[in-house]
Amino acid sequence: MPIINRVADLHDQMIEWRHDIHAHPELAFEEQRTSDIVARELESFGIEVHRGLAKTGVVGVLKTGDGPSIGLRADMDALPIHENNQFDHRSLHEGKMHACGHDGHTSMLLGAAKYLAETRRFKGTVNFIFQPAEEGEGGARVMIEEGLFEKFPCQSVYGVHNMPGKDTGSFSLRPGPLMAAYDTFQVTVRGRGTHAAMPHHGIDPIVVASHMVTALQSITSRNLNPIESAVVSVTQFHGGSTNNVIPDRVFLEGTTRCFKPEIREWMEPAMRRIIDGVAQAFGAEIEFDYLYRYPPTINHPAETSIAAKIAAEVAGESRVDTDTDPVMGGEDFAFMLEKVPGCYLFIGNGAGEGVCMVHNPDYDFNDEILPVGATYFSRLVESVLPT
Ligand code: NI
Repeated sequence: MPIINRVADLHDQMIEWRHDIHAHPELAFEEQRTSDIVARELESFGIEVHRGLAKTGVVGVLKTGDGPSIGLRADMDALPIHENNQFDHRSLHEGKMHACGHDGHTSMLLGAAKYLAETRRFKGTVNFIFQPAEEGEGGARVMIEEGLFEKFPCQSVYGVHNMPGKDTGSFSLRPGPLMAAYDTFQVTVRGRGTHAAMPHHGIDPIVVASHMVTALQSITSRNLNPIESAVVSVTQFHGGSTNNVIPDRVFLEGTTRCFKPEIREWMEPAMRRIIDGVAQAFGAEIEFDYLYRYPPTINHPAETSIAAKIAAEVAGESRVDTDTDPVMGGEDFAFMLEKVPGCYLFIGNGAGEGVCMVHNPDYDFNDEILPVGATYFSRLVESVLPT
């Protein structure tokens, strides 16, 4: 695997950053310490540092002559999970954990920044974007709303995520949708509470909500063209407090996922039709809130070809899957790809026995792929911003 020699020399340094950040995980918009480390290191490389976008966001600007501009993005936030691991760099913050590898993404981008600041074998401007709150809170959206791309114009933007279950250091990507739109909904079903032995005096919201949960499954099985894909999952169902009382309300919550903007727009009215219809059939009342959270992550074809070419240089053509299956998870790099053409891809975190998925208390980022990601980012800059 042709890792850039100087980047390989930085491996121990990247591991040191990664373990330090791993041991001190911080949740969405609270990444103060992580943000301080990123800013301090970028400054020490001689990179111009801008702070304060989306509270803890950091942008490093490295300019060498006149030329195109590129954005490279890493996420910095951790998850509210209690870590099971016992290794030395385990979380010191009770109930918080880097269980998605954002500690690794931050460290590999710092490694690339150090290499590029030293070597400067490019002509143009590199914007190193370290964003807060990728996990559900839309840190990328907030940075964009606060002027990210006006203050730091980028002609293209690139991001990576580690992927357990894929070979260490392999690359997976595809043009078009790679990750799904992530939206959420809440339904309050109001019936009329009564004695459980005399249900005819009330309107049972548990029966009504049960019909709703079942009927909502027909959106994907009966309303959606079978060659398309979407998910409707009800993930919370709360109601009642004892065995002889029919409660007066039930609360439902859940999420929808799909890849195409037109299906995304169609989803809310399809759900509303069923929820309204079922409530009316049983004489119940409802409150229905539908929240549009993350758009689908849609890769742009030209930038995806560039990314695939660089990935093949780094990992070898046989270890780059350019037509990987899309993933139903959400990713807020999607907001950046709505504004600026670019590509998001996966770097394999390791496959085989003992593989642990992200968002799991036993997960850890694979340090072996730090130089892979840093080399990918560095070669991308040298290729897109030629001297
Ligand atoms: Ni993640």
